[in-house]
This record gives sequence, structure tokens and C-alpha cells, in this order.
Amino acid sequence: MSLSVGVIGLGYFGPHLARNVASGRETKLVAIADRDPARRALFTAQYPWAKVYDDGLALIADPSIDAVVIATPLFTHAELTRAALAAGKHVLVEKPMAPSVAECEELVAHAERVGRVLMVDHTLLYKDSVRKMHELIAGGALGRVLYVDAVRINLGLFQPDTNVIWDLAPHDVSILDLILTQTAGATPRWVSAVGVSHYGTHENLAYLTIGYDGSLLAHVHVNWVAPVKTRRITIAGTRRMLVWDDTAPVEPVKLYESSVDVARIDKQHAYELNIQYRTGDIVAPKLDGREALAGVISTFAAAALRGEPSPSDAQAGLRVVRILEAAQRSLADGSARVSL
Ligand SMILES: NC(=O)c1ccc[n+]([C@@H]2O[C@H](COP(=O)([O-])OP(=O)(O)OC[C@H]3O[C@@H](n4cnc5c(N)ncnc54)[C@H](O)[C@@H]3O)[C@@H](O)[C@H]2O)c1
Repeated sequence: MSLSVGVIGLGYFGPHLARNVASGRETKLVAIADRDPARRALFTAQYPWAKVYDDGLALIADPSIDAVVIATPLFTHAELTRAALAAGKHVLVEKPMAPSVAECEELVAHAERVGRVLMVDHTLLYKDSVRKMHELIAGGALGRVLYVDAVRINLGLFQPDTNVIWDLAPHDVSILDLILTQTAGATPRWVSAVGVSHYGTHENLAYLTIGYDGSLLAHVHVNWVAPVKTRRITIAGTRRMLVWDDTAPVEPVKLYESSVDVARIDKQHAYELNIQYRTGDIVAPKLDGREALAGVISTFAAAALRGEPSPSDAQAGLRVVRILEAAQRSLADGSARVSL
């Protein structure tokens, strides 16, 4: 059995999804839609067998389609997802799920009511290097995670309808959700954000701090105005440390035999700390090289056809938007800590 899929939005990212739907083992690309005639013409030539629509809602009305992939701008996600669920389709929507927690909650409840899969394309969760990082953390290689520090900066494409937090931070926040919340059971408690808009109304630079129970802290730096493309996450654990460099041509994950041990000295000096540093080998784990979007599409098909789980299901997508919305509120409130 395979899933008949329509892809809505053939701008920058939609074509990558369409290609993976077309080549998926359990998916068939049966329809495409875009409002822009030039984009339609380009992809009609590439997928001559697919039906072509000039609007997402028209594609959704096609009864021969089981599932839709929505790759349109953020402010169209809720309307198209709502319509697709109402028409009985499974939905894979691009990140972030919708521009507000209220809309995400409504969509999550809608999907549950109609018994359809709602999944969010948090692509990086399906990348070999991130899956390896997750496997190492889940297997206890790092010990207890102390902090996560994420940097995602370059000379980025300014988005007309949203700021850098909603554009770039979903990637890192979805990774935090996987490795800290889904795997280690850590619940984010508050968010504080500072950001600035140098050129227009939308912030092009932002620093988010996310606090969890105990002393676990995450920091996310997103920026569209930086000379060097940096995509890096540093994670320190009580046993080992890890650096993921998504721009590295080879060996993007490095596991460091580094940690800090603290021993209390004798009673008399009870309050002094004896810090001992441990350093050793650096290991670069082998990766499987599978394209992330192939994993996204096969996971979506498995969820729709057999009810299999996904690390970016509707609840995960909602948790990500909770953090983004809290960051936005913090920005508006002088970087105040916003409780989650
Ligand atoms: N997962 C990732 O790594 C990743 C990367 C880039 C973008 N994205 C996400 O993908 C989405 C789209 O981003 P993009 O950069 O491709 O945008 P884009 O502007 O390049 O493309 C959007 C396309 O959607 C079409 N469109 C808009 N409304 C439509 C409608 N109602 N019906 C049919 N077509 C419609 C537009 O004509 C356009 O061609 C965003 O949510 C973005 O966050 C995800």
C-alpha cells in the first residue's frame, strides 16, 4: 500500500519535499500546487504525470489524494492544515507548525478528532548526524546533560513576513525538544530572549535562553547578518562533551572525552571545590549518509499508513511553537523570563 500525496508550495523548499515524495518507497506524488504560474510550469515539466493546481485549497479538494505536504509561508500553514484535515487528509506541514500556540492547539485537537496524522517537518531531526547525536545522548554517552549551546548564523535570507526567531530557531528548538524533552524528560520552564532589528521591522538577530529544571540551560543564537555560516551545537555532559558542526565537510559529530570532576575536600575545607579536568580522545562516529528529507517522508508515510511514531509529531510541533511564542513575548517585554 502506498500514500497518494499532493505537495502545496513549490518555492524554495517544496521542490525538495516533492522530489522525496516522488522517490519514496511508500509515497506517490500525485499532485502539485502553487499560486505562481512560473513555478507550476517548471514542475509540470519535471512531474508530467502529476495533477497541477493553482491553489492549495483546490488540491486539498481532490478526493484522490490521501495526504498533503504544505510548504508555503508560515502565515498560510494554519488555514491549509485546517482545510486538509477537514477533507480527511494526513498532513505534513513545514516548520514551524503555525504562528501561534492557540492555532497549533486547535490543529492538534482537530487532527485527533478526525483521526489523521499531523506531522511537522522539523527536518534536522531526521539528519544522520542529529540521529547519531540523539543516539549517543539517549545511550548515556554524555552522562547528564549540563547545557546546550546552539549557533545558527550566516548572511541569511531576510523573510518578509517573520523574524529570525520564527525562521531559524525552530531547527535548534526542535533538536532541544528531541534530546532534552523527549529523551531525557526535561521540561522547559521559561524562556528569555533579546533581539534586534537593524534593517526593518523584523528582528534579524536574537539570543534565546531556555531554562529547565535544576541547572540545565539551553542557549540559541540565531542571526541573518553574519559573515560566516555557522551551524553548531555544543553539548556538555557530566561524562563527555559533544560538538555537532553541520557545516563540516566530514565528521560533523565529535565526541570529546572531556569532563569536569568536582570533589569536595576534607571537612575543614568543606566549601572549597577541587576541580579536576579530564581530557582524552576525540571520536567522530560513523554516519549513514541518508538524506534527511527521505527520512521525513518515510516517517510520515509510516505514521499515516501504520500509525508509527514520529519525533516531530503534532505535539512536538506544538512544544516548539510554545517556546518560539514565549521568546517573542519576552522580546516584547524587555527580555523578561516568560514562564512556559
Ligand atoms: N525544513 C527546512 O529546513 C526548511 C527550509 C526552508 C524553508 N522551510 C519552510 O518552508 C516553508 C516555505 O518556505 P520557502 O522558503 O520555500 O518559501 P517560498 O516563498 O520560497 O515558497 C513558498 C511557495 O508557496 C506558494 N504559495 C503560497 N501560498 C500558496 C497557496 N495558498 N497555495 C499554493 N501555493 C502557495 C508561493 O507561490 C511560493 O512559490 C516555510 O514554512 C519555511 O519555514 C523549511
